[in-house]
Amino acid sequence: MIPDNLSDYYRLHARFFDMSRWSFLFGRNSLPKLFPTLRKQAQILDLGCGTGKHLKQLVQQYPQASITGIDLSEDMMGKIPVHIKERVDLINEEYTIESFEENQFDLILASYSLSMFSELNNGLIAIKKHLKPDGYILVLDFDSTPHPWFSTWMAQNHVHFKDRLFKHLKEVFATKKTESKKAYFGLYTYTAFLGINSK
Ligand SMILES: C[S@@+](CC[C@H](N)C(=O)[O-])C[C@H]1O[C@@H](n2cnc3c(N)ncnc32)[C@H](O)[C@@H]1O
Repeated sequence: MIPDNLSDYYRLHARFFDMSRWSFLFGRNSLPKLFPTLRKQAQILDLGCGTGKHLKQLVQQYPQASITGIDLSEDMMGKIPVHIKERVDLINEEYTIESFEENQFDLILASYSLSMFSELNNGLIAIKKHLKPDGYILVLDFDSTPHPWFSTWMAQNHVHFKDRLFKHLKEVFATKKTESKKAYFGLYTYTAFLGINSK
């Protein structure tokens, strides 16, 4: 039985997230290749930071930046290594338009989190508001699948293919770079999108 509520879902899955997700959340290790050049004291948000994989990469790449992670799951955030926790600001709440000020961030990164939003449109409106003009958005996520059964199975695991996330991202943000790859011989594609808040 899969819990309806995302926070309850991760109460269980946080226990084995880091040892299991390498097998289907592809592209995360190479995401830093798409990290943009930022001013030294940039403000960065990791939206749906989970167990902190990208927080670690961000700390390494941007040593002087002010880095914030937000996630609704206390259990996932509980797995963030202590030395990363000491270096970043962490907020344990659902990301909404109220979470931050307008024009706050130079970069918002969202890895495999936006596909879990029950209201994607609200998430994109919030990101647009929280990004500075010409700020960057970097999204890595599930993109599409030709198999309805897989889409149904993933929806039960809180991942929504039907939202056409990358189509919406390209409408809202100017595309700087985008890369798509197939997983498991075409079972699904995943995409990395780097956009600019200039539209
Ligand atoms: C698949 S995990 C990915 C974690 C991490 N970004 C990574 O790539 O390893 C998705 C995370 O997004 C969080 N999440 C999903 N929707 C959220 C929302 N609306 N607000 C805050 N966190 C959210 C979940 O709690 C979960 O920890």
